Amino acid sequence: MNPSDEYRPGLEGVVATETAISFLDVDHEEIVIRGYDLIALARHLDYLSVAHLLIEGCLPSPGENASFTKGVLGHQTWEGPIENVLRNLAPDGHLMDFLRTGLSCLATYDPDLDDHSTDATLRQALRLLGQIPMIVANSYHIKHQQPSILPDPELGYSANFLYMITGRKPTIQESQAFDQLLTVYSEHEMPNSTFAAIVIASTLTDLYGALVGATASLKGPLHGGANEAVMRMVLDMETIDQVEPWLLAKLAAKERIMGFGHRVYMHQPDPRAVLMKELFQQLVHTPEQENLFEMFTRGEMVMQREKGLYPNLDYYAAPVYYLLGIPIELYTPIFFAARSAGLIAHIREQYAHNRLFRPRVRYTGARHLQLD
Ligand SMILES: CC(C)(COP(=O)(O)OP(=O)(O)OC[C@H]1O[C@@H](n2cnc3c(N)ncnc32)[C@H](O)[C@@H]1OP(=O)(O)O)[C@@H](O)C(=O)NCCC(=O)NCCS
Repeated sequence: MNPSDEYRPGLEGVVATETAISFLDVDHEEIVIRGYDLIALARHLDYLSVAHLLIEGCLPSPGENASFTKGVLGHQTWEGPIENVLRNLAPDGHLMDFLRTGLSCLATYDPDLDDHSTDATLRQALRLLGQIPMIVANSYHIKHQQPSILPDPELGYSANFLYMITGRKPTIQESQAFDQLLTVYSEHEMPNSTFAAIVIASTLTDLYGALVGATASLKGPLHGGANEAVMRMVLDMETIDQVEPWLLAKLAAKERIMGFGHRVYMHQPDPRAVLMKELFQQLVHTPEQENLFEMFTRGEMVMQREKGLYPNLDYYAAPVYYLLGIPIELYTPIFFAARSAGLIAHIREQYAHNRLFRPRVRYTGARHLQLD
């Protein structure tokens, strides 16, 4: 059978799958997560409860919450040779590449690797939710030839993730801000990395392999890599007076400004960016931080006026990371760590209703060439 003529570059607007996990209801400015509004979830529940909702399909009862949390935290020790493997990677490597190597290493130590049953993939989910923050946080220390920082049993999941990064016990305000940041990053319908993951899973390969493919996708500057690029961009501007000329010069050169635009809501606000801007403002305590806030809001104003573009999540998540004392090179790996809950949910859903992805092409090459 020859394919139909319809071709949409980048699959723009194409419905690629059915899912009960999430949906971007652009008209109502709502990110629907299994029936709930993502922003309401971020305001009222913690990240692990939302991870349970994504992976298990329902909000946890107190008992389920306790056993899910225990299952995740039980995996927060170094497994096998992972720490050594990471210590042997090139020290100038990208931390997303440390992460994908860590995931591949974990796969080789999973006795259930090729078991796609809901029980086995739930065990894998708990293991990954425990291991990924350890790998992400400690890749930074390992890359900089520092000792690893292991979780403190006194702290909860998100507070420990932040503690393993900074080595400093966070305040309640910092832990809550970081937990909300993880939650807003946890799931977002069908971005490139989730699509990559379900395409890979549709061959019935293992869950870790699908996640490794998603790390490669999410690293790209048009996707998860934008949050790092945003922070470097604003620091490069140096002063508030430089924001407007800096942006106008880049736009005149037809360059893309990181942190603006989105394939789904190009000319509407991203609800996640609105929440992150609010958190950013709450974390401002000094005149320098106030100045940074004004630089970001000036940038938003210029982009709205010049291009009619709204900031996306990465624009206002970047300064939240920054004020939490997180090194810039960790911004994208943390995005992945948060998104692992959504990715695992989609991979499990793919296994449960699998149909191999195998699209066709519109051929633009030569035909009927003759060999001499
Ligand atoms: C996310 C993104 C890739 C979506 O792109 P897309 O759906 O392919 O959008 P298009 O390339 O069709 O852009 C449509 C128009 O908006 C402009 N545009 C989109 N994002 C822009 C940006 N960040 N800076 C400047 N112009 C932008 C394009 O130049 C184009 O303008 P034109 O019609 O005058 O040529 C794009 O907005 C982008 O590159 N953003 C910056 C990277 C980023 O923040 N990524 C994180 C996403 S959450």
